Amino acid sequence: MCGIVGILGKSAVSTNLVEALRRLEYRGYDSAGIATVEAGSLARRRAEGKLRNLETRLLSDPLDGRTGIGHTRWATHGRPIERNAHPHMTAKVSVVHNGIIENFRELKATLEAKGHRFETDTDTEAVVHLISDSLDRGLDPVAAVQEALQHIKGAFALGIIFAGYDDLMIAARKGSPLAIGHGSGEMYLGSDAIALAPFTDTITYLEDGDWAVLRRSGVEIFDSEGARVDRPVINAVASSLLVDKGNYRHFMLKEIHEQPEVISHTLASYLDMANARVAFPDLGVDLAKISRVTISACGTAYYAGLVAKYWIERFARLPVDIDVASEMRYRETPLPKDGLAVFVSQSGETADTLATLRYCKDNGQRIASVVNVRSSTIARESHAVLPTLAGPEIGVASTKAFTCQLSVLAGLAIAIARARNTITPEEETELVTALTEVPRHMASLLHHDENYLSITDVLSKARDVLYLGRGLSFPIALEGALKLKEISYIHAEGYAAGELKHGPIALIDETVPVIVVAPEDELFEKTVSNLQEVAARGGQIILISDAEPEKAGCKLAGHIQMPKVAPLVAPLLYAIPIQLIAYHTAVQIGTDVDQPRNLAKSVTVE
Ligand code: G6P
Repeated sequence: MCGIVGILGKSAVSTNLVEALRRLEYRGYDSAGIATVEAGSLARRRAEGKLRNLETRLLSDPLDGRTGIGHTRWATHGRPIERNAHPHMTAKVSVVHNGIIENFRELKATLEAKGHRFETDTDTEAVVHLISDSLDRGLDPVAAVQEALQHIKGAFALGIIFAGYDDLMIAARKGSPLAIGHGSGEMYLGSDAIALAPFTDTITYLEDGDWAVLRRSGVEIFDSEGARVDRPVINAVASSLLVDKGNYRHFMLKEIHEQPEVISHTLASYLDMANARVAFPDLGVDLAKISRVTISACGTAYYAGLVAKYWIERFARLPVDIDVASEMRYRETPLPKDGLAVFVSQSGETADTLATLRYCKDNGQRIASVVNVRSSTIARESHAVLPTLAGPEIGVASTKAFTCQLSVLAGLAIAIARARNTITPEEETELVTALTEVPRHMASLLHHDENYLSITDVLSKARDVLYLGRGLSFPIALEGALKLKEISYIHAEGYAAGELKHGPIALIDETVPVIVVAPEDELFEKTVSNLQEVAARGGQIILISDAEPEKAGCKLAGHIQMPKVAPLVAPLLYAIPIQLIAYHTAVQIGTDVDQPRNLAKSVTVE
C-alpha cells in the first residue's frame, strides 16, 4: 500500500528520493516524507497530501545528507496528517514502513512503561521505539534491528537509518515486497524495481522473512533465522520508458490504449497462433483428471475470474467454485481431491488472495496463479505461474491487467476443454482464431472517443447508474460499475439483468441511466425484455451491443456499436467501452483519474 525507498548515495540524495517516490505514488499518496543523515544527526521533512507538497517543503527547507529513506503513505493507522506521515524517528533511528504491525498496542504499552514518549497514531512508531530501546541498552544498529524483528508481529517492509552512521541502511521484509538496487558505489532500496528504474536495473528481491544490511560497498542478506544467505541478482525489465505517461493525459488512458499490444503479447505466449491451437504451459497436473476448479481473487481480478467460471463451465463442462478472497479465506470451504485452484492478481501481493492461496495449498490443491508481477509473492508460492504480459500498470483503476487476465483465462478454459475432449479440434481452431482477432478489434474500438461524449454528458449528471448484463456480460456489468464508481465517485451497481425485477427496478426513473451490456448472443432477446422494463419506467438506456440500435425496440439515450465477434471473446472487447465510459465521465467531472481518493493499487493489508 505505502511506497518506501532508500538511497546510500555519493552526494545529496533528497532529489533522487523524491524522484523514486514519484514512481511509487500509485501505492499511496495521502502524505509523504524523507529523512537523511545530516552531519551525523537525523533530519526529516514531511508533508500532508501529494508528493508535490513535500517538494515545495524541500525547496524552502532542503536536506543535504547522502544517506536517506523516503515514504509515500496510504493510511492504515492514524489519519493522513503530517504528524502521522513517515519517516518516523527518535534522535537515534528513523524508519519507513509498509504494511501493518499487528502487536503495536502491546509493544507501545511496554515501551511507554519504560519511559518512551509516542508522538503519532501509527503502528510504525512502535518499531522506532523498539529499535531505539535496544540502542539505548548499548546494542549496535544491526543487533538492535535483529532483536526488534523478533518482537514484531504482522506483515511489513522496513527501511531504517541511524544517527551517526552515514554508511548504513537496514531493510527487512515480511509479507510486503522489497527490492534492493545495486549501483556503482551506491545502493538503493525500494518497494519495487519500478521505483529504482532511473538509477539501476540490477535488482535483488528479498525473500519473505529476510533482512539486509546495506552499505555503499554492497549488501549482506540474512534469513529469518539470522543465517547469511545469497539471493539472486537479476536484471529488471522495468525500464523508465514503460512507466512514462508519454503523450497521454493520464496513465489510465495510456493503459487503455496499450491493450491491443499487451493482449497480443499475452495471447502469443499461450496460443500457437500459426496452427490456431492453444499452447498452454504444463501446469504439472493432468487437466483431464481435475475434478473441480476453485478460483479466488479481489476487485477487478475477481471479475476476470468470474468470466473464467462461465468459460470453463461452458467449454470444459467442469464445475467451478469462485469467491472473493476475503470471504473464501475464512469460509473453510471443503476442497476436492484432484482440484485445481486458480488465483488472479495484478500485483501478486494482495493479502487476502495470498491467504486463500495458502489455504488451498494446505488443503491439497494444485495452485496456478495468473499474475502480472512475476517476482511477486503469489507467483512464488504457486505451483504454476501464468504471467500476464501487461507491463507495469500505474493507474489505480485496473484496465490492461484485466483484459490480459481474461486472455490467459480464455486460454486456460480452452486447454482444459481440449484435455477433457469437450470441444472438437475444429471448435478449438474457431475459438483460438477468435482470440487472435481480439487485438485488431480492440484497436478499432479505441479510435472512436467521440462516441463517448454524449454518454458522459448523461452520466456525469447522474447520482446513481445501473449496469446490466446476462451470462458472460454479467461480470462485465459488474466491472463497469466498479470502474465508474472508483474514478468518478458516482454510485454505480452491476446486476445480472434477470435480477432487475428483484429489487433494482425500484430505483429506476428518468434520472437513472442504465447501461446495458448485450452482445447479440443466445441471451440477447432476454436482455431486450429487461431493457423494455427499464424503458417503460423512463430510465435512460445506454446500449453496448453489436446489434443494430433498432433491435432494442425503445428509445436509447446512447449506443456503442460493437463489432460482431464470437461469444467467447465478447468480454475482452466489451471491457473497452466500459473502461472508456468511466474514464471520460471522470475526466468530465474533473476527478483525479489515476489516483482516486481512498484507493490503493496494491492492497497488502486485510
Ligand atoms: C485494488 C485495486 C484493484 C484491484 C484489486 C486486486 O482494489 O485498486 O484495481 O483489482 O486491488 O488487486 P490485485 O493486484 O490482486 O489484482
